[in-house]
Amino acid sequence: MVGKDFTVTPWEVSGEVDYGKLIKEFGISRLDDKTLGRIKKHTKELHPMLRRGVFFAHRDFNWLLDEYEKGNKFFLYTGCGPSGPLHLGHIGTWIFTKWLQDKFDVDLWFQFTDDEKFLFKDKSYEEIQKCLEDNMLDVAALGFKPGKTHFIVDTRHANLLYPIAIKFAKKITFSTVRASFGMTNEDNIGKIFYTSMQAAPAVVPSVLKKKNIPCLIPLGIDQDPHFRVARDVYPKLGYYKPAIMHSVFWPALKGHGAGKMSSSDENSAIFLSDSAKEVEKKIKKYAFSGGRDTIEEHREKGGNPDVDVSFQYLKYLFEEDDAKLTQIEKDYRSGKMLTSELKDYTIKKINGFLKEHQARRAKAKKDVDKFLWGG
Ligand code: TRP
Repeated sequence: MVGKDFTVTPWEVSGEVDYGKLIKEFGISRLDDKTLGRIKKHTKELHPMLRRGVFFAHRDFNWLLDEYEKGNKFFLYTGCGPSGPLHLGHIGTWIFTKWLQDKFDVDLWFQFTDDEKFLFKDKSYEEIQKCLEDNMLDVAALGFKPGKTHFIVDTRHANLLYPIAIKFAKKITFSTVRASFGMTNEDNIGKIFYTSMQAAPAVVPSVLKKKNIPCLIPLGIDQDPHFRVARDVYPKLGYYKPAIMHSVFWPALKGHGAGKMSSSDENSAIFLSDSAKEVEKKIKKYAFSGGRDTIEEHREKGGNPDVDVSFQYLKYLFEEDDAKLTQIEKDYRSGKMLTSELKDYTIKKINGFLKEHQARRAKAKKDVDKFLWGG
């Protein structure tokens, strides 16, 4: 969607995103209390990202649960486009996906789209392969289930994906792709084909098992257009349409209006490889603050957690305890808690997470080898 005030496509997110408008425009549904209640029946508790509206919309999720309740288990599918070092904005979806995998005890197919990033970014094939190796370690370090997790790399598993992708490609016209993604005659022809590669993993287990298996795709809402195009095709090829859960974007350090966190702007992102010192510097120097100009004014009038990036990071991922988060929100709003205190707390939380992540990552090579699909 390319709007007046904001833009959301798989390759560009900018402006102040109006999620209500996106729901309407994309024709998706809000994750309402009824649906959340159905999830809770199976998972016992709701993940903070569900309680707090980080995952906020869906397609066909109630159908997926109907099937699950009939004993027709689903599998999970999500992915990573390797084009640079990973940052906090990438991993929210995957951490949530891991929770779903643990709670429902299901398989996960994880696609690495090295073809996509080669075609869409100004990087060489070799550079993208380096990113791929690097990103696979980070993803493996998140701790997905051994034996139930399958990494597929578009260029390496072409024997599996290509025969499926061409079936999608044959049913999608250039004019649909051009209208959906704003492509022009000057775009390279690989880009035009790409959506069919991203569509394919949603049916890979059905193809391998020779029977239809429901699929659930957790994703950042910018990825929805690929599936909006492809969903018309699944039934034409004899498959279920995949169900989808959509998340909001992880805010850039400079705030919501600055779009999503992006690896092309060093100072808008906290990378998974950042040192504790770098995190401290970035939060202190760049994290948009909802605080007042002076301490006196802050104590008197209070801060605004709704626009404060440190608070958003706590809410989205780093403070799991609802009571604690509510207390911080109250104290910041009243002026009892200062911006420096909020930032110090956030820095401590992020660094605690990154320290553990980096230790797991250093030992993740063997997991990558285990996860890579071997046929
Ligand atoms: N295109 C995604 C990206 O640029 C990667 C991806 C591939 C993906 N398949 C997916 C993301 C399925 C979500 C769901 O990062």
